[in-house]
Amino acid sequence: MTTSSLEVSGVELRYGTFQALKGIDLSLDSGQFLALLGPSGCGKTSLLRSIAGFERPQAGAIEVDGKDMMPLRPRERNLGMVFQHYALFPHLTALGNVAFGLKCRGTPRAELADRATMALDLVGLSHLADRRPRQLSGGQQQRVALARALVIEPNLLLLDEPLGALDRKLRIEMQTELRRIQQRLGVTAVFVTHDQEEAMAMADKIAIMRDGVIEQVGGPQDIFAAPASHWAAEFIGSGNLVCGALRPNGKGGLDLDGVPGVDLSVSEQAATGRLQSDGRGTLFVRAEKLTLTAQNEDAVPGTARVTSQRYLGVHYEVHVETAAGPVRALVAPESASQLEVGRPVTVSAAPEQIHLLPLPDKETT
Ligand SMILES: Nc1ncnc2c1ncn2[C@@H]1O[C@H](COP(=O)(O)OP(=O)(O)OP(=O)(O)O)[C@@H](O)[C@H]1O
Ligand SMILES: [Mg+2]
Repeated sequence: MTTSSLEVSGVELRYGTFQALKGIDLSLDSGQFLALLGPSGCGKTSLLRSIAGFERPQAGAIEVDGKDMMPLRPRERNLGMVFQHYALFPHLTALGNVAFGLKCRGTPRAELADRATMALDLVGLSHLADRRPRQLSGGQQQRVALARALVIEPNLLLLDEPLGALDRKLRIEMQTELRRIQQRLGVTAVFVTHDQEEAMAMADKIAIMRDGVIEQVGGPQDIFAAPASHWAAEFIGSGNLVCGALRPNGKGGLDLDGVPGVDLSVSEQAATGRLQSDGRGTLFVRAEKLTLTAQNEDAVPGTARVTSQRYLGVHYEVHVETAAGPVRALVAPESASQLEVGRPVTVSAAPEQIHLLPLPDKETT
């Protein structure tokens, strides 16, 4: 199977007067797996359909292996696409569905069955080749759809929420399976999902899309540990945004000032260009990176206090009210016993887990 790079630059797409894509830049190395995350309506499907050639962007360039895709019709682009709803032909068998794309491309009859069988084998379904879609489970149908996309030996695989219709257990199985196949073939893939855990578990790279633009691109760790904006931090969720004055601590760092019971600091270096003129900034810390230390009742007035706690299976989720607003921490059960509701606490985190967000005025609103 060939494997290709993808370069999308300045792509704009309008549906009538509505602009769905507002200048998309995206680049993928050959063999990379990109997860595209973003709220409903932000343009994920529009982007995939533009890459596939089903939509005609009014501006920008799309290149696969350096080759301009814009003048090409969808079939000439040789891309494999899997949709959220499998869209299998009900009257064709699994094998017939997989062979269909080849048939359209004028593949010789003798080759058809062999290649389709190989593709079904790849997704572990060659034993069900004669079944029709209604005789297959959701996961099996999705595998047929995947085999159908792969059988043409695509340069690029485009997957639009392919696992969205599956129940959780099957979905997790298929995540592993899909990633295994993608890696084995080395095929470059763009994968749309609503599910952040799924993106995290599967992707080499994550792009967060918002309202027709790519808000942030990075490795899963970077995206989740250091969101590039307030919006990205809030979209990704499970993190805390703490806003306040940051004052030099004389040790090469800046401490969050004037918030009793909250002990957070960043290095001066990390703060370069990210503080407002009045010295205020917004810190981002993920819930599982916060440490809560129980304090005695004689704590200073206005200090941080536990407002609720609940058991989530592995962690306790503990909410704390602070002078800078509420924060949410995920703590181990052994620490949770001292963190009863009303208890004063100190909220802290290792400096490398605390990120100062860029100033909001740099953000698109
Ligand atoms: N054919 C169309 N004509 C007009 N507007 C459209 C068309 N297709 C999509 N849109 C609009 O473009 C925007 C982006 O749609 P798109 O389907 O790309 O979003 P999405 O990110 O895939 O959303 P979801 O997560 O719900 O699938 C939406 O506001 C949608 O209403
Ligand atoms: Mg969509």
